[in-house]
Amino acid sequence: EKDVSFVGAADTDYAEEEERRKAAQAFQGVRQQLGRTYLPLINGEYVDTPSVVDSLNPSNFSEVIGKVGLISVEQAEQAMQAAKAAFPGWRKTPAKQRADILRKAADLMEQRRDEFSAWIVLEVGKPVKEADGEVSEAIDFCRYYADEMERLDKGVNYDMPGETNRYIYQARGIAVVISPWNFPLAIACGMTVAALVTGNCTLLKPAETSSVITAKLTEILLEAGIPKGVFQYVPGKGSQAGTHLVNHPDTHVIAFTGSQEVGCRIYAEAAILKPGQKHMKRVIAEMGGKNTIIVDESADLDQAVVGVVQSAFGYSGQKCSACSRVVVLQPIYDAFVRRLVEATKSLNIGEAELPSTQVGPVIDANARDRICEYIEKGKAEAQLALELPAPNQGYFIGPVIFTEVPPNAVISQQEIFGPVVAVIRVKDFPEALAVANGTNYALTGGLYSRTPSHIQQAQTEFEVGNLYINRTITGAIVARQPFGGFKLSGVGSKAGGPDYLLQFLEPRTVTENI
Ligand code: NAD
Ligand code: ALA
Repeated sequence: EKDVSFVGAADTDYAEEEERRKAAQAFQGVRQQLGRTYLPLINGEYVDTPSVVDSLNPSNFSEVIGKVGLISVEQAEQAMQAAKAAFPGWRKTPAKQRADILRKAADLMEQRRDEFSAWIVLEVGKPVKEADGEVSEAIDFCRYYADEMERLDKGVNYDMPGETNRYIYQARGIAVVISPWNFPLAIACGMTVAALVTGNCTLLKPAETSSVITAKLTEILLEAGIPKGVFQYVPGKGSQAGTHLVNHPDTHVIAFTGSQEVGCRIYAEAAILKPGQKHMKRVIAEMGGKNTIIVDESADLDQAVVGVVQSAFGYSGQKCSACSRVVVLQPIYDAFVRRLVEATKSLNIGEAELPSTQVGPVIDANARDRICEYIEKGKAEAQLALELPAPNQGYFIGPVIFTEVPPNAVISQQEIFGPVVAVIRVKDFPEALAVANGTNYALTGGLYSRTPSHIQQAQTEFEVGNLYINRTITGAIVARQPFGGFKLSGVGSKAGGPDYLLQFLEPRTVTENI
């Protein structure tokens, strides 16, 4: 059944001079605030912390975006106790009232969308247009989950003569949200508002490198009317505050998005029953990808080249959905590679803030060094077809293309999370599908083809959560392309889809003999 009821927020049209003027003004406003301190919000109060870290601009690491107070384990415990105290009131708050807080948050974010884009650009080095799309996604999560909660709140009625049977949902309890830096607003916001609207008291622990943006999200949620203790902002180290909250006997739900390594660890830790714990924890773990686009001999190469370039090098390949492998059929392999290399050479690499930038920096020095190691590995495993130079005052890496890459090479199998793409040659379509499916991941995948039988076969046999045919494989839209993977890409229902909120709810059946 087609659902046309949800309409997403419109992205900014930067072709309009007025929009460009507003965006420039927002950057000026944000720049005047750089270097401020952001503290955790515990039980409705901003509290001092034992340690503070600088969050840097990846395009220019001499620029401090903000100073972030990191909570101690004792403060994480205080936040947990405040959440427990707030839960009885929040779970009883009518769903409509909770949903309206999300709608207000969406409106506030929409009013401040240029400012939010500017914070994203400056704190995580995402180019302006993509940052703007991310703000739309965050707004959409708020409005869509608000609607979804009202739908679920109606429950299901299975009444019989002489007997009522009501199927209803209730909040689980305390939700711990652990978010990544690469969609610092949208993913943190989506997981958080899903947990809140379903009636759970929620603690948000963002990634260390994107904590200023989540501090701004905190401002929005407070202004929208979230009561104290119901939402708490707990920036901290994953290995300390994060671990404490994951292992806490009072945590009911853990909503995590991040790497496979950390996700698997959280999944394992959450499974261990702790003294005093009277429930099993529900873990949602959205993890990495090693995403493939197949280009067959019938593909429109103009379309395929543009789609691969955007999917592989957008946000410097730092999307879980990014294309990092292209599997190309023998008859068109050489022509495709030639055109891919030429198209990639035309990309503008530079500071994320510049309107002309298509490829910005990577997130930090660790990421840059890790990606460089993969590039060296690739040089030993395959042919280097292109390595573009990049500026050096930020954490930049120019796009890299490897060709004749063996399907089992390290650069074919491991998530690099940078602007590096491996092009693999195959003889026919069955081999293309086998290679595409030959990783531990199943997140996104794409096919460029004009052969109906190939398109049909890919729909049934290409093992990915989100399959895109004849288009880019990034940029899923809420309530249009619900997003998420399986295999070692994650466990949980798709974000922005009709099953997502169920994970934060406990269904109950109440039967009354009348
Ligand atoms: P990460 O796993 O390093 O960190 C994610 C979060 O986990 C951070 O908040 C971090 O502080 C926290 N953390 C780290 N160790 C922890 C521990 N022991 N206990 C509790 N929390 C801990 O990931 P990242 O570098 O922030 O993000 C990039 C990764 O996220 C990539 O692998 C990418 O594919 C994945 N990702 C997946 C999706 C998806 O929807 N599937 C979306 C975005 C990003
Ligand atoms: N939801 C994000 C995308 O589709 C990760 O690119």
